[in-house]
Amino acid sequence: MTRAERKKQHIEHALSTGQHAETGLKDVSFVHVGLPDLATSQIDTHTTIGGLTFGSPIFINAMTGGGGKSTYEINRSLAIAAKETNIPVAVGSQMAALKDKEERRTYEVVRKVNPDGIVFANLGSEATIKQAKEAVEMLEANMLQIHLNVIQEIVMPEGDRDFRGALDRIAAIAESVGVPVIVKEVGFGMSKETAKKLYHAGVAAVDIGGFGGTNFSKIENLRRQKALHYFDQWGIPTAASLAEVHTSFPDQTVLASGGIQDALDVTKSIALGASAAGLAGFFLKSLTDGGEKGLIADMIDLQEDVKMMMTVLGAKTIEELRQTQVVISGDTSHWLKERGVDTTYYSVRTNKKKG
Ligand code: FNR
Repeated sequence: MTRAERKKQHIEHALSTGQHAETGLKDVSFVHVGLPDLATSQIDTHTTIGGLTFGSPIFINAMTGGGGKSTYEINRSLAIAAKETNIPVAVGSQMAALKDKEERRTYEVVRKVNPDGIVFANLGSEATIKQAKEAVEMLEANMLQIHLNVIQEIVMPEGDRDFRGALDRIAAIAESVGVPVIVKEVGFGMSKETAKKLYHAGVAAVDIGGFGGTNFSKIENLRRQKALHYFDQWGIPTAASLAEVHTSFPDQTVLASGGIQDALDVTKSIALGASAAGLAGFFLKSLTDGGEKGLIADMIDLQEDVKMMMTVLGAKTIEELRQTQVVISGDTSHWLKERGVDTTYYSVRTNKKKG
């Protein structure tokens, strides 16, 4: 099977396996604020990642490119919607374009239609410094995402089986690529121990890419003769992963993704410590079902709904939303207790700015 055929299968299987809301975000509840003393018109949703300021705390996470015309069309639509709504957009792994120049256009279209927007380049942790620089130049990217996808590779019939040296390569790229580096998981979550290594390696942010949304074990199992189903349940759910990374490294930038389905998920993720939330599967489905118009409408709704929730929570900025009180219950609470995280960090804190 060619790389391009694999890319198309990923899209088909991502849509057919869908997202199952096992993120743990249902275990997170806001402490209602009766006197928010704020108007929606005062809300400012700017956020900062790696020294770059984004107008919105929502971004389109990495999906595609490298699969010929169909992936060109998807990236073009995603970029049009990103431009229209002023939200950052990531491309899928650019390795296909580094190996086959014909595929470059399926990625370059993102920069072409959105010349002034924030664009993330994307490669796996097998990339060399030279490849990382080429991927960034291809898109004049503002940031580089490096994905960690060990479970996907191991389940993928033609996937990697050797995962040595990734951290050293990431550190070398972070030092020399010239743009901030985000290291992301693809739906299996990130532990605080992994995040610690990445922050020490010099990355600007980690995107915990938690369990509960698009499931690349299920997707790759559909492409195997003998399925490895035990990996279908593998991973740290998004809420637990976010909370353990943020409480361990409150001064570092953490991003949320993995099963984010609506504005409530976005708002809860930010309250757990994220500076922004990435959506992949949801936007892919929105585009498939409603075309560019439907996607743009969903993106606008998401942004507006986040503002509504910020208003009732009395959080004027993303920074203030990151300090609102939430109570964590259920399996997420259990996970965090077992991992040595004191969840009262979230439930009794007072907003530093508001006192
Ligand atoms: C992805 N994802 C992904 N991630 C990455 O870093 N490079 C890639 O090339 C891809 N490719 C890809 C294809 C398709 C069709 C989907 C749906 C997703 C993973 C994505 O960025 C994200 O981490 C996971 O999908 C989890 O988020 P959602 O989908 O639950 O919001």
